[in-house]
Amino acid sequence: MKITSFEQYEQAYKQSVEQPEQFWADVADNFTWKKKWDNVLQWNFKDPDVKWFSGAKLNITENCLDRHLEKNADTPAIIWEPNDPTEDFRILTYKQLHDKVCQFANVLKNNGAKKGDRICIYMPMVPELAIAVLACARIGAIHSVVFGGFSAQSIADRIKDADCNIVITSDGAYRGNKDIQMKNVIDDALVQCPSVKRTIVLTRSRTAVSMIKGRDVWWEDEIKKVETQGNPECPAEEMDAEDMLFILYTSGSTGKPKGVVHTCGGYMVYAGYTFANVFQYNPGEVYFCTADIGWITGHSYIVYGPLSQGATTLMFEGVPTYPDAGRLWDIVAKHNVNILYTAPTAIRSLMGFGLDYVKDKDLSTLKKLGSVGEPINEEAWHWLDDHIGHNKCPIVDTWWQTETGGIMITPIAGVTPTKPGYATLPLPGIQPVLVDENGKEIEGNGVNGNLCIKFPWPGILRTTYGDHERCRTTYFATYDNLYFTGDGCLRDDDGYYRITGRVDDVLNVSGHRIGTAEVENAINMHSSVVESAVVGYPHDIKGQGVYAYVVIPDMHDSPDLTRKDIIMTVSRIIGPIAKPDKIQFVSGLPKTRSGKIMRRILRKIAEGDTSNLGDTSTLLDPAVVEEIKQGALK
Ligand code: WT7
Repeated sequence: MKITSFEQYEQAYKQSVEQPEQFWADVADNFTWKKKWDNVLQWNFKDPDVKWFSGAKLNITENCLDRHLEKNADTPAIIWEPNDPTEDFRILTYKQLHDKVCQFANVLKNNGAKKGDRICIYMPMVPELAIAVLACARIGAIHSVVFGGFSAQSIADRIKDADCNIVITSDGAYRGNKDIQMKNVIDDALVQCPSVKRTIVLTRSRTAVSMIKGRDVWWEDEIKKVETQGNPECPAEEMDAEDMLFILYTSGSTGKPKGVVHTCGGYMVYAGYTFANVFQYNPGEVYFCTADIGWITGHSYIVYGPLSQGATTLMFEGVPTYPDAGRLWDIVAKHNVNILYTAPTAIRSLMGFGLDYVKDKDLSTLKKLGSVGEPINEEAWHWLDDHIGHNKCPIVDTWWQTETGGIMITPIAGVTPTKPGYATLPLPGIQPVLVDENGKEIEGNGVNGNLCIKFPWPGILRTTYGDHERCRTTYFATYDNLYFTGDGCLRDDDGYYRITGRVDDVLNVSGHRIGTAEVENAINMHSSVVESAVVGYPHDIKGQGVYAYVVIPDMHDSPDLTRKDIIMTVSRIIGPIAKPDKIQFVSGLPKTRSGKIMRRILRKIAEGDTSNLGDTSTLLDPAVVEEIKQGALK
């Protein structure tokens, strides 16, 4: 399954296009199946309807746990580094992780969980989060992990959309110097969620919480019950390859976040295949991905990908700047990290603290570096290369999405020649195409277009939960017979791909995906706001910042106080991650005669480029543009 030279890459790529079914069957043969498939692939992008390995039976946790026990029971599966560096770190071997997953799977069963149930997980980055995820998979329950930075309202929306019956959470969380009240947030969310019959609460910070009789139970008490029952094993539920494994919500250009659905067989194969190849993982290596399990990066490259390959995956509870900006490098030295997978926004932020935090650190164990989530600017790429990798570690700039399940366009570490700012080449099995606005393929090199994929891969999303039509219109209806990514892309003269950013109304703020419509809806909930428009602007650290134009005809308080109120509103409705960085009060928005907001103009002004606003003659009230230009925030 592992490609180790560029010739092999080219050969594998060619085979994957000419005989895709044979190619993927060979990859899938590296996994443990309870029963093999009847068909490798059945598909059409019209409905869409994509089935991989149909008829096959498996459980992903047997691939992530049981199959490693024979030879690698004592290999560390998870190394956990706490937020506070003086607290003890933890190591869970494959045997220990297996036992804990089985134990908690039995807790879930004791609490009424069944195959097919949807279970919401809202937890800090502690090993029990990975255990909870795997325990769901063990019994065939569908997990829906919600990132800790989302508000009660966002959690409630997600719980209702998926009709979850169980929530797994913790009393509190430590992140940097903050104590976060997680259970309180869940309590607020659950006021709106009658479907939830049980919450299981892990003790982490032992902050005061309200435990509701009949609904809330402590994780530790439930474990004790399982222990007294004296049955530590939990047989892995036999799943169909196309049974749902998880739902993960992500933002789009319209409306509420959608629940991207991944299924057991294809997702497992794709997460494992990409992990093994992109990072060229070798047994014994320590691999550290700095993402949160609340995002797809954490699902695929902290939990499922690495564990399916028997790797040692390091989980970090805290943030890169606590107790100081040298924390990531301290972790590398402390745990002898060999592979580091992180985000451009983290690198840019750490660059800003200067080299003092790097210069005395022992980074000699590092062999491979990865970047994910947003375009990496050349400055950050070189900083990583020079000061972290000491020009000895290949950097893999990995492009992919929640919807793709795993990495799509990327260098293979040490195999593909890299180029700063470029995700380089598609992995074998991935067929990218660039198209113009009419969906016509743009062939050849040295061209720009909208990035689509023309053939399915095992990790492709199958649907958006509860709304298949939305899946069709969002991804498969823009261009006939193509999966549309929403990204713009350049293919240079060498055939290398460079992602240029979203072409829809989705922002990428510190690697987090945020829909402008979602932020607008939140701002518009503020009692004085009549309407608003949100666009992105270049931000030195976050990549993109959130710029809001807001119409308030009658301002009751000072503009500063009103700004704070609006920020509070967005925090409450979506979460702190969506807070506007800049709020400009305007008397009106530039609209066409048909009432459409001209975002192009607002984007240019937010970017500070007012020289050439293009054609404004179709505007209802051109004077408003002048006013907005005058009041633009630097
Ligand atoms: C969007 C997907 C992929 C996991 C984390 C984000 C942007 C992602 C890169 C990259 C340039 C990138 C794209 C994509 N993106 N990786 N290496 N270079 N842009 O997952 O939240 O689903 O966001 O992130 O715009 O569409 P996500």
